[in-house]
Amino acid sequence: MVEILRTKAELRARVAEWKTAGDRVGVVPTMGALHQGHLSLVSAAGEACDRVIVTIFVNPKQFNTPEDLENYPRTEEDDARKLAGYPADVIYVPDPDQIYPDGFATNVSISGLTEVLCGAHRPGHFDGVATVVTKLFTQTCADMAFFGEKDFQQLQVVKRLAADLDLMIEVVGCPTIREEDGLAMSSRNLLLSDRSRIKAPVLNEVMEEMAEGLRQGGQASDLRAKAESRLNAAGFGEVEYIDLRACDDLSVLETPERPARLLAAVWLAGVRLIDNIAV
Ligand code: PAF
Repeated sequence: MVEILRTKAELRARVAEWKTAGDRVGVVPTMGALHQGHLSLVSAAGEACDRVIVTIFVNPKQFNTPEDLENYPRTEEDDARKLAGYPADVIYVPDPDQIYPDGFATNVSISGLTEVLCGAHRPGHFDGVATVVTKLFTQTCADMAFFGEKDFQQLQVVKRLAADLDLMIEVVGCPTIREEDGLAMSSRNLLLSDRSRIKAPVLNEVMEEMAEGLRQGGQASDLRAKAESRLNAAGFGEVEYIDLRACDDLSVLETPERPARLLAAVWLAGVRLIDNIAV
């Protein structure tokens, strides 16, 4: 089994040994409930780095409701078992006081990028992400960090944060891993009922259709209306957004005149699903 460390002192001691030996250290930050998407990040980290730390911390600051935090899957033993076949050297599962000690009063907040899409629907979410990621970067002293493109906005926010704060870490985005039926892998998929799980891949189908329409010269606003009615007919609830956005600054586009991404967040029987594809 991979070694599990729970304090920053132990982690720092281990990383200091590695750095003395000249090793390049990679980190894969996660909230656990690991799936193939996370494991692909661990593989990418193993290829680029000599040592890999996987962090597992269900970060209370990035949840919008106590119920969502409580329902988030926690599967530490399973996660450790899954990592055994991958190039992970340490699993860092910090006790909460290692991240947020008594009196913790700092908030890392990025403007602009965090005010749209998920940021507009989940107030404070990206401050929570940015704050914990900053702590995980400084605690692990990693040279490289690996994030899934599944959370495309999060990836852009973390890149901005690392650049703005001169953090000595290279942030790498890795492709979304999908189930055979197209559903983007996510820890939240565990919360879907059997019935919802059957409907869930319609999101990716609808997005692929909309992306094709955009490639053929369609306007995002026209295609969005069609996509929304397809999703509602398939039994989805609120469509928070299904937007064409510029890759770099996430500004709204009507047509993919520059590198663009189609991003969506929709509700399906009480579970919030997000996905994005390149256009
Ligand atoms: O993507 C996630 O699982 C989380 O947002 C992260 C980056 C681990 C921060 O808690």
